[in-house]
Amino acid sequence: MYSKKLKEAPNGYTFDDFLLIPNASSVEPKDVKVETQISRNYRINIPIISSAMDTVTESKMAITLAQEGGLGIIHRNMTISEQVNEVKKVKQSSDLTIRDVITISPDASIAEANEIMDIEEVSGLPVVEDEIVVGIISRRDIKPIINKGSKKKVKDIMTEEVLTIPESTTPDEALDIAYENKVERLPVVRNGKIMGIVTIRDILERKKFPNASRDKKGKFMVAAATGPFDLERAMALDDAGADIIAIDVSHAHNLHVVDYIKTIKDNIDADLLVGNIATAKAAEALIAKEVDGLKVGIGPGSICTTRIVAGVGVPQLTAVSDVADIARESGIPVIADGGLRFSGDIAKAIAVGADAVMLGSLLAGTHEAPGDVVIMNGRKFKQYRGMGSLGAMTGGAGAGTDRYFQEVKGPMKHAKLVPEGIEGVVPYKGPVNEVLFQLIGGLKSSMGYCGAEDISAMKEKARFVKITASGMTESHPHDITITNESPNYPTTRL
Ligand code: XMP
Repeated sequence: MYSKKLKEAPNGYTFDDFLLIPNASSVEPKDVKVETQISRNYRINIPIISSAMDTVTESKMAITLAQEGGLGIIHRNMTISEQVNEVKKVKQSSDLTIRDVITISPDASIAEANEIMDIEEVSGLPVVEDEIVVGIISRRDIKPIINKGSKKKVKDIMTEEVLTIPESTTPDEALDIAYENKVERLPVVRNGKIMGIVTIRDILERKKFPNASRDKKGKFMVAAATGPFDLERAMALDDAGADIIAIDVSHAHNLHVVDYIKTIKDNIDADLLVGNIATAKAAEALIAKEVDGLKVGIGPGSICTTRIVAGVGVPQLTAVSDVADIARESGIPVIADGGLRFSGDIAKAIAVGADAVMLGSLLAGTHEAPGDVVIMNGRKFKQYRGMGSLGAMTGGAGAGTDRYFQEVKGPMKHAKLVPEGIEGVVPYKGPVNEVLFQLIGGLKSSMGYCGAEDISAMKEKARFVKITASGMTESHPHDITITNESPNYPTTRL
């Protein structure tokens, strides 16, 4: 009976419908551990992943997030080669060895060596003959003679005994070798041929990020999005070194998508994160396909109109908890994607079973997000738009229309698309690490209240109280005009 559909409909809840109940706790927020599993084979050090959106994640965001212990998913609204390039930029940024090493020939003049060092902004050059390292020359060698009109050649003053290292040398080993031998740079060689160079500065720089998310080779971790049927893109991203490939689609329980997962999975080495879904049944279907991670959220996002345009969705806490109940049986991590506005929402998402959260609007507007700062009425903003918005579906490489199972052929593109997202601006927020500091600080505080020493304890121990709309009104600051905005409680509205 039709009436049964309504009578038997379950309740759906989201962030503002519950609060976490404080628990007896001997856990201090500063001692809390927030590292977490985000896919079958990968852990990261803070449970934060940036959305695969063209106003949120390109290499700049992914690099900073990896440095801070999180993960960026490079969006796919660009050509395959552009996206591959973005993945490589993240990997190379953490590469200890500079691959495109600048070298000089032994017969070059000192003046040439000096000029190359100036142009390339390096302080030393390996001297190479037929790719074989035959010496090394530094600014220090050149300085005493360069202004005296010396006619000497590189080979006359270079250091001939060059200490080199093989590619397998670890950063710590390289540092030890450099310190012991009092050298600043070490050419990396294979069979005597130059492959790159390592400098002490690079190694020390790297030590600045002890919490960084790194792959087995010590490079920054990065994920990248692909379409549900875009095998070519998935394989190219895999070849480029993406650790996780995310199938990015608005309805991953579409049975054609489910069927195609095996084809993608069989052709890549990376872990496969699949979403979005919002039900236990969808989780069962995807886990049966041996996906490595699940992403949950149909319509909770700040720029989403799916729930309004299609009338479809499940409030986010209910969706995450329903999926997490299934996922815990097989140990597949769950990512809560969309709708998070405050650090408390991250805590609530984890408390209902998420292993990590995916953030769009909270990270949009930061310095590292793609796009320029615009000034309106004397205040700074950056663009933020849904990947199902008209702008995103028709702009860039237009690689996102299949996210919403839409295909456009010929002219009049706009008129033939049914958007499920909007375009707008969010306040400029400055560097993303300041935003992350507040978000993680809030999460740790929550875990202290709940007596949870780590993410899995938070998932198991935290308990909720269901609240009313007046409970939520009481929860926000009230009966005051805020004069000094807190960094973790923005009140800026347009
Ligand atoms: P927040 O709330 O963090 O949400 O801004 C970001 C998430 O929203 C999803 N997304 C969309 N959903 N229409 C939608 O229905 C869209 O145009 C759209 N664009 C992004 C996506 O899961 C993202 O991580």
